[in-house]
Amino acid sequence: MAKARSPVTRNSCTVFFLIIAIWNNTQPSEETGSSAILSNHFLNKVPKNLPAETTVLDLSQNNISELQISDFSSILRLQVLNLSRNVIRELDFSVFQYNGNLEHLDLSHNRLQTLSCHAMLSLLRLDLTYNSYTDMPICSKTDMPKLQYLGLSAKRLQGSDLSALGHLQLDTLFLSLEDLSEYKAASITVFNIKTIQIVFHPRRDFHILTDLELSGTESLELFNIHDEQVSELRMFLLKLSRSGRLLNLTLNKMQSSWEDFIDVLQAAWGTTVEHLVISNAAWMDATNKNNFNHTKTSLKSLEIKDTVIVTIKADPQYMYRIFSEMNITALTISGAKLIHMLCPSKPSHFTYLCFSYNTLTDTVFENCNNLTLLETLILSGNQLTRLMKMSLMARHMKSLKHLDLSHNLLQHEVHEKRCQWGENLVELNLSSNVLSDSVFHCLPVNIQKLDLQNNQISSIPNMAVELRALQELNLASNRLTDLPGCGQFRSLRLLNTETNSIFTPTSQFYQTCQSIREVKAEHNPFMCSCEIREFIDIRKQGLVVLVGWPESYLCEYPEDIRGLQLQDFHVSELVCNTTLLVAVVLVITVVLAAIISFLCIYLDIPWYLKMMWQWTQVKHRIWKNNPEEVFDNMEFHAFISYSKHDSDWVKNVLIPNLEKEDGSIRICQHERNFIAGKSIVENIIDCIEKSYRSIFVLSPNFVQSEWCHYELYFAHHKLFQENNNSLILLLLEPIPPYIIPAKYYKLKALMAKRTYLEWPTEKSKQGLFWANLRAAIHIRLPENE
Ligand SMILES: *[C@@H]1O[C@H](CO)[C@@H](O)[C@H](O)[C@H]1NC(C)=O
Ligand SMILES: *[C@@H]1O[C@H](CO)[C@@H](O)[C@H](O)[C@H]1NC(C)=O
Repeated sequence: MAKARSPVTRNSCTVFFLIIAIWNNTQPSEETGSSAILSNHFLNKVPKNLPAETTVLDLSQNNISELQISDFSSILRLQVLNLSRNVIRELDFSVFQYNGNLEHLDLSHNRLQTLSCHAMLSLLRLDLTYNSYTDMPICSKTDMPKLQYLGLSAKRLQGSDLSALGHLQLDTLFLSLEDLSEYKAASITVFNIKTIQIVFHPRRDFHILTDLELSGTESLELFNIHDEQVSELRMFLLKLSRSGRLLNLTLNKMQSSWEDFIDVLQAAWGTTVEHLVISNAAWMDATNKNNFNHTKTSLKSLEIKDTVIVTIKADPQYMYRIFSEMNITALTISGAKLIHMLCPSKPSHFTYLCFSYNTLTDTVFENCNNLTLLETLILSGNQLTRLMKMSLMARHMKSLKHLDLSHNLLQHEVHEKRCQWGENLVELNLSSNVLSDSVFHCLPVNIQKLDLQNNQISSIPNMAVELRALQELNLASNRLTDLPGCGQFRSLRLLNTETNSIFTPTSQFYQTCQSIREVKAEHNPFMCSCEIREFIDIRKQGLVVLVGWPESYLCEYPEDIRGLQLQDFHVSELVCNTTLLVAVVLVITVVLAAIISFLCIYLDIPWYLKMMWQWTQVKHRIWKNNPEEVFDNMEFHAFISYSKHDSDWVKNVLIPNLEKEDGSIRICQHERNFIAGKSIVENIIDCIEKSYRSIFVLSPNFVQSEWCHYELYFAHHKLFQENNNSLILLLLEPIPPYIIPAKYYKLKALMAKRTYLEWPTEKSKQGLFWANLRAAIHIRLPENE
């Protein structure tokens, strides 16, 4: 459920509880609980009506001064309660008597003066530091049987108080003595607390360390160790050397001279301590007065962090020598402004060395043959410049597996001497340097994990060394414009190319990267076009995990879809696949051609088209010749000439169809309109002259038998002249060209030049034929007879 709220009205509360009721119903069995974060809410009191299932309640940084049983009696599932930084003055633990599940209670930074114990059977962590009580409030083990962590502070301390704490059998005791003003010395033996953290007064020394004796403690962390305490610390360590089980010692904020530090270190050398951490210290002028005795020690690792070691007057070699000759396995000196480190003078025990964030240069461990056991070397954040020199350094470290050279100024030039890395180097961190493409000519052959992020790499050169073992390659934050192929890295499983300049990943990647399992390519300026689909598809195949998909993969170009997730970018296969496009166009063309051929063959479309064309031609001609013009001397619309073999068709089909209905078309037929006393020829010529058009019914018969008869008449008339529109050729039967005798060249020319009307045998086409014919001879003749 959401945050709890302060009560507003009765109604809103009813609704609120109703919601809880519903919510509880829908979450039947699960013990989910909820958090109420009310930190920094200007509260004076613990709010009423907190959701009953609240398990975490943060009331820190408010103004709460009092606690009551009723404040918590309705939130029975409470586990974590933070009341830090309020103004509570007194506390009776019985206010929590109903909170049988309370595990963490933070009451630090209040004004507690008195405290009354009460059974807190489930409490694991209790923080009472930075309050106003003078004596340490200590409840008994029976009140808090499960307590693991206790934070206390005190103004007045008696040795016996600490001994009493021993009976609590804690895991961790945090003791803040920053405000201590009174200390009653007594021998203190602390039993059975695994980890003890003590913050001393920053200026005063109460000699607590002198009295302190540990039994069963494994880790001790001391804060604020100033000059006066150092000799005490040394005594304490010397005492430890004889007894105890202390394994880890941490010294925070240690102010001392270099000599004192060496004394402390020497004392620690003889103890049971295995891990020593010193942080936030400062030593100026390491002098060479002391001699450090590297005798046998339990110490395994020494860590010096954020500690400035500066030598101005003394010989720095002496200081380096103390560290380099240490017979321990792990040494860290980081953030210490070290400018150099010596090679051990004899084969050393070091397996782990970390000198990060110093100012070491390329000469570090040059020609150093004595780090033969070294497996991990961390030199990040220094002033290293030449990768080739680093390779020569690493070559001498026969066991070196992990090398971290990140955050330096490393470069490599192609023409430089050949790089020679050790055989065993499997992990190399070269991130945040100034390396360019040429780095691929200077890599250890057996490398498995390579970090090259944040460099200036734009591509992987083809001639680069083959890295058969490489499994993880990090090229994030470089200048890549394409996903690299895996030609040289057969075993690559993880590739990181986020935050580069990759527009369109090309297919080289998919072809060569067979073993790849995980790709990170977020935050690249992807160009959303056809080519990107292949990249999107690699996910679908399920072999490769794209880390950060889909929210971190966005189209950058084209601009109109900038910000669109790659996942939502779709483009059709047809648009992208030219072969497919061509195929589709071809198929459509073929189908269309087939349909057209089908129509042509079965429906004779060309015939219709031809007829329509002729019809429009005729209409056009009529319109051009002013159809209203009346031909005065014309009696007939048309004269028909035909072979006697075709006379049946002419008489029974042609004439009835032309003359039908209103008789608006008059035909001159030389037999029918015969004028006695004139010869046939004269009659025919007479007929032709009185007719506006002459229709010739052409057929093989006509051509062979009748043509010659007519040719003569036509010769007189201008029937054959070019632009004579009066001639209509009507093809009753097809005439094969060879039938036409050669001498009838005029007929041939006519048939070739003029379009003729073909008589269609199909009934369906005949309507159009007649319409066409009628249009061709349609003309207004004077009304006579
Ligand atoms: C309680 O709140 C303070 C201040 O907000 C915070 O520093 C502290 O870590 C919190 N304690 C726990 C146990 O969460
Ligand atoms: C390499 O070093 C950088 C910076 O020190 C770090 O963030 C990164 O995790 C390291 N890479 C590997 C593979 O450990």
